[in-house]
Amino acid sequence: MTAVSIRWLGHSTFWIDLDGKTILTDPFLSGNPFAAVKADDLTPDTICVSHGHGDHVGDLIGIATRTGCKVTANVEIARWAVKQGVGQPNAVGVNTGGTYNLGFAKVKYTIAFHSSSLPDGTYGGMPHGYIITAPDGRKIYFAGDTALFGDMRLYGDEGIDVAILPIGDHFTMGVDDSIRAVKLLSPRVVIPMHFNTFPPIAQDGAAWAERVRTETQATPVVLSPGETYTL
Ligand code: NI
Ligand code: MN
Repeated sequence: MTAVSIRWLGHSTFWIDLDGKTILTDPFLSGNPFAAVKADDLTPDTICVSHGHGDHVGDLIGIATRTGCKVTANVEIARWAVKQGVGQPNAVGVNTGGTYNLGFAKVKYTIAFHSSSLPDGTYGGMPHGYIITAPDGRKIYFAGDTALFGDMRLYGDEGIDVAILPIGDHFTMGVDDSIRAVKLLSPRVVIPMHFNTFPPIAQDGAAWAERVRTETQATPVVLSPGETYTL
């Protein structure tokens, strides 16, 4: 089995370790009052980006240019990253439904219903989520910023081990729709994200977890920023 751990760094930023190889999701640490670490302290192998909003790419360019890590994003964001100084071979542009093999894991870009402009106003292409498949076949679904959509059932058909879902409401699905998403995805474990960072997305994590326990088959894992869940 692959040793897989998931550390929440705050908001939608996770440090996913697969046998010592690491994926950083949607890096937003500078400007997040609850960030568990500083951007300068991270040296990931790969950064995966779901969409172009500042609370998902805020530290993308800084970390990618300092470390020379790989970046996977949609083609528009990958192209933008190169213009911002990320090395061309490191910026991998993919598109909806496509899978990229990182060597130590595979990343499939899934649909998401949201928007995706970049901080400087550049068109950011379609928003996405992604499914990370470990070498042993276990799957982590990171939904990105999205509304509920019925095709989550199709992703659930793949057999999701861990689903990471936004619950903050206002900019993404809220608690009620996240419960419906869990029913469509049927993950073993569900981890909430994109809540409590700012007042408009305040949610009660414990109350959410109780609903997951009573209304779905999944096990909720509510992390505090800095905490790690080991699969
Ligand atoms: Ni967004
Ligand atoms: Mn967001």
